Amino acid sequence: MAPRKLAAGNWKMNGTFAALDQIDRLAADLPTSGCDVLICPPATLVHAMSARAAGKLAVGGQDCHAKTSGAHTGDIAAEQLKDAGATHVILGHSERRTDHAETDAQVAAKSLAAYETGLVAVICVGETEAQRDAGETLDVISAQLAGSIPEGATAANTVIAYEPVWAIGTGRTPTNEQIAEVHALMRERLSARFPDGADMSLLYGGSVKPSNAAEIFATPHVNGALVGGASLKAADFGPIITAL
Ligand code: G3P
Repeated sequence: MAPRKLAAGNWKMNGTFAALDQIDRLAADLPTSGCDVLICPPATLVHAMSARAAGKLAVGGQDCHAKTSGAHTGDIAAEQLKDAGATHVILGHSERRTDHAETDAQVAAKSLAAYETGLVAVICVGETEAQRDAGETLDVISAQLAGSIPEGATAANTVIAYEPVWAIGTGRTPTNEQIAEVHALMRERLSARFPDGADMSLLYGGSVKPSNAAEIFATPHVNGALVGGASLKAADFGPIITAL
């Protein structure tokens, strides 16, 4: 099986009920090219979006707790996301790692919770600008892959997103060679560790927009994108999906 193509949108802390109009626009115009489309809105919109998307696109959460229930004010369990209609959950996004001090071990524990619930974990990795400047990118990515992906990961339950922290929301993107280098490393590490690691979908994320999507998608081992700002409007996300 070849890795599935996936165009994923991360709405982050953006969007109220009115923003669901964008889903209607996107769904009306989705190409039938065989790529999967996923949107991860704020938790408040997961249920309404999945009802509205009606099987045309998948809906996911942006984080989940490692435990199934309990006294964890403000958190959300994988089961609750699934109950609301989610099929995926983003885990270990750099904004979670920075704003909430999430560690690789916590990301791995959350990923296990996702697997046990039947959600696909979209596990994010990425270096900071200081780490890239210091020539540490490949070591950082290797360590994050080793620590954040638990045993039991398969091509069916796991998607990996490479998001250089310095490219997120900045309008800056790595060169194709830089993306290719990291994606080749990820493919090699995943294939060495998991029986179907060669089939896991690998996404690139960080300032993807309609004007650079096709070039990024032409990079070896890039099977799609995790898109932030440009996923908020159907007029931007639609062409990115088409480019895939
Ligand atoms: O998870 C997606 C993300 O962090 C990239 O954001 O706005 O640079 O596309 P953006």
